[in-house]
Amino acid sequence: MPGSVLVAYATRYGSTKEVAEKIAATLWENGLTVEILPLNSVKSMEGFSAVVMGAPLQMFRWHKDAISFLNQNQKLLCKIPVAVFALGPFHDEESEWVEVRKQLDKELANFPWLSPVSVSIVGAKYDPSVLGFPFNILPAMKQIPAIDIRNWDAVHGWAEGLVEKFEAAAG
Ligand SMILES: Cc1cc2nc3c(=O)[nH]c(=O)nc-3n(C[C@H](O)[C@H](O)[C@H](O)COP(=O)(O)O)c2cc1C
Repeated sequence: MPGSVLVAYATRYGSTKEVAEKIAATLWENGLTVEILPLNSVKSMEGFSAVVMGAPLQMFRWHKDAISFLNQNQKLLCKIPVAVFALGPFHDEESEWVEVRKQLDKELANFPWLSPVSVSIVGAKYDPSVLGFPFNILPAMKQIPAIDIRNWDAVHGWAEGLVEKFEAAAG
């Protein structure tokens, strides 16, 4: 495949970065050239032939850096395959997975020009003891127990599935 894959992420507490790293490693193991960057430090999209972008859901919204990235790169993102992932929900319960998918779909609906080749909901890592202001004073947030429901096998499998999609799009 000509060009490299950009794996770009937004994170507040680090868990999305870890998922991005797993995805980048999987693509690389499968023979793709990969660059991994925070979404807010992507200076140019030149040379990238596919993008994987991920960000957490926070207070029912997708991280603002994901929104800015899409707004700033519409022209180029229309020309190459884009895969999208989001972190959430807090609990491994069917109703929460459905709810998070709805939250993400609502965000993606603001970008009708974007047709992701794949969308993945990864599950949250959450620790109330590291919350910063103002979340650390919200009783509802403090009551949620620490969890990590990210499924690394699923992340690996999703990234492997992207290889074929990206190569097919490159011709
Ligand atoms: C203040 C706060 C608000 C959150 N709001 C949501 C939410 O609305 N929906 C959801 O599914 N997950 C929510 N989460 C869970 C995050 O998506 C999850 O903790 C994620 O792993 C954080 O990513 P990061 O470590 O890259 O910042 C929230 C987490 C925090 C700390």
